[in-house]
Amino acid sequence: MRILSGIQPSGTLHLGNYFGMMRPAIELQEKGEALYFIADYHSMTSLFDPAERRLNSLNVALDFLALGLDPDRTVFFRQSDVPEVTELAWILSTLTPMSLLEKCVSYKDKVAKGIPANHGVFAYPVLMAADILIYDSNIVPVGQDQKQHVEVTRDIAIKFNEAYGETFVIPEPQIRGETAKVPGTDGEKMSKSYGNTIEIFGEEKPLRKKVMAIKMDSRLPADPKPDAEQNLAIQLLKVIDAGAGREYEEKLRAGGLGYGDLKKKLFEVYWEHFAAARARRAELAANLDYVNGVLKAGATKAHALAHPVLKRARKASGLE
Ligand code: ADP
Ligand code: TRP
Repeated sequence: MRILSGIQPSGTLHLGNYFGMMRPAIELQEKGEALYFIADYHSMTSLFDPAERRLNSLNVALDFLALGLDPDRTVFFRQSDVPEVTELAWILSTLTPMSLLEKCVSYKDKVAKGIPANHGVFAYPVLMAADILIYDSNIVPVGQDQKQHVEVTRDIAIKFNEAYGETFVIPEPQIRGETAKVPGTDGEKMSKSYGNTIEIFGEEKPLRKKVMAIKMDSRLPADPKPDAEQNLAIQLLKVIDAGAGREYEEKLRAGGLGYGDLKKKLFEVYWEHFAAARARRAELAANLDYVNGVLKAGATKAHALAHPVLKRARKASGLE
């Protein structure tokens, strides 16, 4: 079974990225042949600063390795190190109905938010389809918001197979129910583009400030809170540590727990949860030759897997 996923180097990674995608992906590396990549081509649709892209890409590599991605088990690489994927994206785009892309919620959201709708933003799911299909992927672990893109991938693959004969493996999305949509500090989906994130790694003081600034209602500490499960700090606590989340939910429900103390607990649990990874990340950051070596070896392996699949598609479609 081949497992594949990617993450864009478009900003600093946050708890939504970790619990929604990175942790499930890291756990899945035990279950099959996993490939994970830094989607730098995708980041070009929304980020236009080359130095920032370079820095973000390195940070994604450091984050993923620090959090437990095992490069001996998993092929870890930069998307653009296998440029053949863009050729496949072209081939697939000729079989992709405009209406399929027009339906994509993420595209409509981006346009609604005023992000300039360049062609890359529109065509982005086709590149994602190429990412998935070029590695004969079976399982794609992603957060809920990417499910539609995997469905688009399936549609395109089926269309290609019908038009040119059996060529591509049809992939399945894999979404974890409980962490499908991690809320941000404002209660909306946590997202780099909404300014509501809690980063996985960063400086203690500003992060503590962010957590302590989460807005609560004006009820007094002594008041019982029958709606405790809807409290944002409780929801986040449950994502990080289900046991502590349930315990504090009951305390909040019963009354007697102040919001300040609840948020302090949330911060402590969060900070402790990533303590070991933080230390590993510091070691990796002091050994960039190792990190770059991992990505280089990953690119070589990914290339060896992608090449025959692209050849298959070229032959099937009459380019060879
Ligand atoms: P962002 O919305 O911050 O730009 P991305 O779109 O780059 O995040 O998402 C990278 C991966 O992390 C995807 O698999 C996505 O589904 C997952 N993800 C992002 N935000 C969340 C969230 N709040 N909850 C669960 N998963 C998330
Ligand atoms: N579009 C994904 C995101 O923004 C990143 C991505 C690109 C991806 N190609 C992929 C995820 C292929 C899974 C499979 O999060």
